[in-house]
Amino acid sequence: MKEYILITGASSGIGYEMACQLAEKATNLIIVARTESKLQQMQKELSKKYGVLVYYFVADLSDVNAATELYGKIKKQNLQVSHLVNNAGVGNYGEFIETSLEEELSMIQLNISSLVVLTKLFSQDMVLRKSGRIMNIGSVLSFLPFPYFAVYSATKAFVLAFSETLAAELEGTGVIVSSLYPGTTDTAFTTSEMQSTNLHKTKPMHPEIVAEEGIKHLLQGKGKKVVGFQNWINSKLPNFVPDSIMMKIKKGLASQQ
Ligand SMILES: NC(=O)c1ccc[n+]([C@@H]2O[C@H](COP(=O)([O-])OP(=O)(O)OC[C@H]3O[C@@H](n4cnc5c(N)ncnc54)[C@H](OP(=O)(O)O)[C@@H]3O)[C@@H](O)[C@H]2O)c1
Repeated sequence: MKEYILITGASSGIGYEMACQLAEKATNLIIVARTESKLQQMQKELSKKYGVLVYYFVADLSDVNAATELYGKIKKQNLQVSHLVNNAGVGNYGEFIETSLEEELSMIQLNISSLVVLTKLFSQDMVLRKSGRIMNIGSVLSFLPFPYFAVYSATKAFVLAFSETLAAELEGTGVIVSSLYPGTTDTAFTTSEMQSTNLHKTKPMHPEIVAEEGIKHLLQGKGKKVVGFQNWINSKLPNFVPDSIMMKIKKGLASQQ
């Protein structure tokens, strides 16, 4: 039976780069996002250029039932998912009392609930087959919750806790759960408001580099991987710097210039 790597949020940024680099490695793909035109184009280009099989599914994973429906459609087509990459995610920026609650509940559904649903359903199949890999995309903010990114930071802290604990539960089953933590990356994720903070004074990483690290980790890695040495150092700071000082520094960095 043919196997597929499923990537959510594959139509742009890190997910798009991962899909292209995996296709180059002769990997069959299932790509998921909301924008059908982009997925269609990718299907055409990647299958033609690399001779791989590419299926796409249009899904808005901020809808409550979307992840379960997506799983159902993939099963109906009898496609076997060997690797699942939970990459789709959004963020927002601003003072919590002013940001949109609707946007934040939708973010929680996408960044947390749909990730849990897809992980639950595909990991059950993988355990039965005694084989599979799941990689969840967190953020450096998983380790360093930032003011003005309150809900986003919390969704990514969830990814860290969930991935680590599930990896331990599934040890010995043949299913490996890992997680990847990029820092600021040059993608459509970053809004103009985010760009006007001190956080964005440092040069963002290229999504191709993040995707390359991600693929290595997905195919061979275990546990958690922070992308980039400086981001790794930053992720360790809370172990050495008192909370109150850390939070003051982070508030300064995340403030509008
Ligand atoms: N860029 C950064 O600085 C950064 C840093 C750390 C972590 N990350 C994480 O990296 C992951 C990828 O982000 P990115 O930077 O590559 O951003 P991006 O370029 O904006 O890509 C996000 C992807 O997710 C899809 N998506 C968004 N909302 C969706 C929804 N409701 N349902 C289904 N798909 C949806 C988008 O496609 P459609 O719009 O077509 O649906 C797109 O393919 C996210 O989890 C993000 O939190 C990013």
